[in-house]
Amino acid sequence: MNLQYYHRQLLTWYGQNHRVLPWRDTADPYKIWISEIILQQTRVAQGYDYYLRFISRFPDVKTLAEASEDEVMRYWQGLGYYSRARNLHAAARQIMSGFAGVFPQTYQEVRSLKGVGDYTAAAVCSFAYNLPYAVVDGNVYRVLARLSDEDTPFDTADGKKLFADLANRYLDTRHPALYNQAIMELGALCCVPQSPDCGHCPVQVLCKAYARNTQSLLPVKAKKITVKDRYLNYIIYNASGLTLLHQRTGQDIWKHLYEFPLMETDRLMTKDELMATQPKNAVLLQTRDFVHQLTHQRLHARFFWIMVSSLPSVKECIPVSFSQLDDYALSRLTLRALSGSHVDKQ
Ligand code: ADE
Repeated sequence: MNLQYYHRQLLTWYGQNHRVLPWRDTADPYKIWISEIILQQTRVAQGYDYYLRFISRFPDVKTLAEASEDEVMRYWQGLGYYSRARNLHAAARQIMSGFAGVFPQTYQEVRSLKGVGDYTAAAVCSFAYNLPYAVVDGNVYRVLARLSDEDTPFDTADGKKLFADLANRYLDTRHPALYNQAIMELGALCCVPQSPDCGHCPVQVLCKAYARNTQSLLPVKAKKITVKDRYLNYIIYNASGLTLLHQRTGQDIWKHLYEFPLMETDRLMTKDELMATQPKNAVLLQTRDFVHQLTHQRLHARFFWIMVSSLPSVKECIPVSFSQLDDYALSRLTLRALSGSHVDKQ
């Protein structure tokens, strides 16, 4: 591999083709960190507005550390993978107590923050401080696997080591920030998973997969994701504009988010089965079904809208008026159930 040519081609291409994004206009490690955590499991199109809203409410470490966890969760509402928000908040407090409120400046220190792994530490240290650490994310695995026609699965111990070594060998140590942005951007815009745009690739002549026509076979992943089905029966009470909410706890999805009272079963409950558990005067207004896909779970949800004269007492639930639901961080599934419903908010 002619590294000089590779770097020149990649960086020139980046200069002419990159998307202008708010977190690329800054060397503030705090803002870069926030953007990288948001973008970890979220596409740019979805993360963009969240980033702007998050930064305008929590513009620096201190503001984030001083906010309540509930408020931070509300700003994360709908983004998924909520442990990211809890870790961000914990890390902000860690920076206040362990680093006197100053964002850490070495790789080891950044890596020690809650929720920061190898990828995020390399991204923050290269983008903010121009330190020579290669980022390795899904886009980078794909570009590297194709450039070198490497079919070792990237999600195994051997594969991780192999690709980390390759990433560091290919890194432009004179321009780590630009190089890292450029290789990720190539993966996002050109060297995409399906039908890559090899005709416009700046490093086509270096690409072994292109030469051997193996692009569509790479990168190789060892583990298939297994998807589990779950059946969730939710009750949306309405007692003169009041309903019940419950905050999730435990090591499960949506920890700390609020949702309606839930009965989880092995299959969805029928109207009769559910109403048999309700007070005598309860009236079923409607049911609505949703299938909600998470990475490892397919959630089959049935929402039972029930009118009652007064709210029943349900363990660990709190009464909330429909008009105040916005004050609570709700799961995306809950928001889906509420949106477009023809039951009046009062
Ligand atoms: N995905 C992860 N980090 C990114 C970044 N800095 N710019 C664009 N997409 C990204």
